[in-house]
Amino acid sequence: MPLSGTGRSTRETVFAPRIDALLRTYRGAQVFRLEPDTVGIADPVLIDELLRSRPANEFERPTFKPLQGKSISRAESSAVMRAVSQDVRAALNKPAPGPVDLSGEWPQAGHRYLRDLIFGPDPFRLRILMDRRLEWTPKLTWTVIGTGAALPGRPGPAAPVSHLASLLSSSTTYGERRHAMGLYRRAAAPVCFTVSTLVANALWLGSPFADDIPNRHLLLEALRLLPPSWNLLRVASPEFPALDRRIGARDDVLMLPLLSHRDPDIWSDPDAFRPERWADIDPDHQLGYLPFGHANERCWGRHMVMPLAERLLDVLRGDGLAVSPHQTAAKVPLAGLLGVTGVRVTRQ
Ligand code: HEM
Repeated sequence: MPLSGTGRSTRETVFAPRIDALLRTYRGAQVFRLEPDTVGIADPVLIDELLRSRPANEFERPTFKPLQGKSISRAESSAVMRAVSQDVRAALNKPAPGPVDLSGEWPQAGHRYLRDLIFGPDPFRLRILMDRRLEWTPKLTWTVIGTGAALPGRPGPAAPVSHLASLLSSSTTYGERRHAMGLYRRAAAPVCFTVSTLVANALWLGSPFADDIPNRHLLLEALRLLPPSWNLLRVASPEFPALDRRIGARDDVLMLPLLSHRDPDIWSDPDAFRPERWADIDPDHQLGYLPFGHANERCWGRHMVMPLAERLLDVLRGDGLAVSPHQTAAKVPLAGLLGVTGVRVTRQ
């Protein structure tokens, strides 16, 4: 029987077989061999030591890894993050755009809402880069980017577009436009993908929510049980065998928040959705809890993610929306982003 892991005993979270096998086989384990050249790590202390031992290299960075073989400089990545943060702040500060209907299938409904809220004024050739279907293959993404970059015309400096889109206005050649559009995709898409996934996970795990539980606690608990970034990979490095002799000189290490977040030595009732536990825990200093990565190099986007997810929850809770009482199972596919799919949200 698939592992459930929800607080709502009537709902079953059906993990893809490989994730299900990881949870069943290695929960409570510390260091284990997953592949001839890959060691899995669930021990929270060792995860902390490994991530502290060296910074991520550019290929290990989720957002700003090289784009079509070209490295992204620190200055460029900072400029992109500044632009997208401004856009998110502006979206959160503007008055609600009239009645919104967030019922329907999640995470898609949340994704569309965020896309329109934050990047609504952007031209079609950019908005299409947030299409969920582009996740299927990077080749398709680059075809869409290449076509968009080849189209004549681009937003001028005064066009009413997002700050992120306005970064494109300085690109003059086809190659520069392609690069700028690739960066747009790298920063805009995760805002819609990751936040809608996180909120879908929270809805699935616990909705309808008790009135007295703050959104923040719902999200922290959803990030624990269904961490969208469920694994962190670091390629073989001399620092690693020095920390644990079970790691060989050529072994990559796959650290698994998926497992440390359910470690029975750390969490009471580890599979249960209990948001109230966060009243007494500091999420930034809880060993083994790293939904946004290690303290040394935590996610640059987390300050946008949490308020956006809270906004979505405000609307959902205000409108009395929750997972349909008729839905009893949802699948979590094997993907880079861990999340439930096909969640039906209805007015209760
Ligand atoms: C639920 C939402 C998100 C989660 C759970 C998440 C999680 C993470 C994690 C675990 C890391 C560290 C990875 C590692 O050390 O290997 C990270 C890094 C990072 N994240 Fe996020 N993230 C989220 C959303 C976002 C968004 C929306 C953005 C940008 C728009 C973003 C930008 C970054 C950046 C720039 C880094 C630093 C590494 C790099 O340069 O790529 N994240 N994130």
